[in-house]
This record gives sequence, C-alpha cells and structure tokens, in this order.
Amino acid sequence: MLDDPVLVNDWHVVARAGEIAGGEVRAVRLLGQDLVLWRGAPGVSAGLSVWQDLCRHRGAKLSGGRVADDCLICPYHGWQYDSSGRCVRIPAHPAQPPPARAQATTYRLTERYGLIWACLGTPAGDVPAFPEADDGSFRKVHAGPYLFKALGPRVIENFLDVGHFPFVHAGFLGDPRHSEVGDYEVETAAGGITARDIAVWQPDPDGTGESAKMNYTYRVFRPLAAYFEKRTEQQRFSIINS
Ligand code: FES
Repeated sequence: MLDDPVLVNDWHVVARAGEIAGGEVRAVRLLGQDLVLWRGAPGVSAGLSVWQDLCRHRGAKLSGGRVADDCLICPYHGWQYDSSGRCVRIPAHPAQPPPARAQATTYRLTERYGLIWACLGTPAGDVPAFPEADDGSFRKVHAGPYLFKALGPRVIENFLDVGHFPFVHAGFLGDPRHSEVGDYEVETAAGGITARDIAVWQPDPDGTGESAKMNYTYRVFRPLAAYFEKRTEQQRFSIINS
C-alpha cells in the first residue's frame, strides 16, 4: 500500500453507489491496497462496508465470500464477520466465542454524488465540494472508470492542461491555429488551488458543431481530485475528476 499520508488521509472514489446492490461483494483496489466492498442483504441492512480484503484466519480474500443477512462470510472456512468487522462465528468451533483479534481491518466510506468514497486513514477533510450535484439545472452523467497506464498525478496534470487541446483534440476542443494560452488568475486557499478565466477557443466545445470561446475555471482540491467548469453566456459544463 502507498504510505503517502496526504493520499492515505484523503477520500477516493472506489465505485458508483448504484453498482453495489444489497448482498453484493466486490473487490476493489485503492492506493495499492486490496479492499472488499460489500453491502448488507436487502431487507436486512443497506449498509455499505469497505475493509481490507483479508480474512484474519488464513489470509483468504474476503471478496470471494458471500453476504448472509448483515454479515460477510469468508469463502475458505466460513468465518462470519458482522458489519463492524468483528468475527461473530467460527463454524469449526460454533460453541466458542471468536477471539478479539478475529477482526477485519475496516475503513471509512461515504456516499456522495452517487459515488462511493473511501479513506484508508483518518480523513483530513470532507470529500471535494461539487455543488452542481445538487443543482437541478444540471444534467448529471457518470463517466468512467477509465484505465490509464499513468500515475494519478499525471492524469490530474493532463486534466488541467489546456495547452494540449489544439494538438490532441484538434477539431473538437482546440485548433492549431488558435494555440495560444492567455494569462489567467491563480488563487491558493485552504481548499486548494483555483485557476480562473482561462480563455480557450474551441471548434466544437459541446458536440453541437458550433465554435465558441470558452472560459475555463480549474480547481485542484487535492493531489488526485480536481474540478473544472467551462461556460459561455448560455451554458455551463462541470466535471469533478477523482
Ligand atoms: Fe477465512 Fe479461514 S481463511 S475463514
């Protein structure tokens, strides 16, 4: 697992909320850590849990297990863990109470914007702000996940980089005849860095085929979470990228 405290103590998206139905178990990986994400059985508990994907008995992956009521059952010898991560039943010794060390390693999670966010440490703050999620005038679309053969910071760097538009996205987001990037304002505050009023000429910024000069605002909340908004007088388009 990565041990960078800034990343460990931050929130990261691990799944879309709607993808994990009641009774479902899924393996996910975050910062090099294998995790099991599971939701209690329908009608019993809709609670979601994210734990280290490791059974305390013989090290089996709990993500191969199944949900029974509000417990996750290891696929190897059937140890039964309740939603707090505590083993409450060892089938080979049903009359004996499980030892205290029979406890899964649990992590914090929260659901926001239709996404499940997990933190492997102690959250240094809330999940990044995205007020558009509660704004009824926006149509919301979940995109991704996408597989990149690149480090996370490089992906965020690319997200923030308007200079490549005329070359990589020529005809859509940029035009080699309009490659200049003008001056813009940058502000650093407790919540991150904001760069606003980046003027970009785009041949087809929204798929309508109409060219427009767009105004970009970028916000970098944390090393692996960023936001942008582009707008004309009539339209607004925003993305949060984790
Ligand atoms: Fe999980 Fe034995 S390894 S119950």
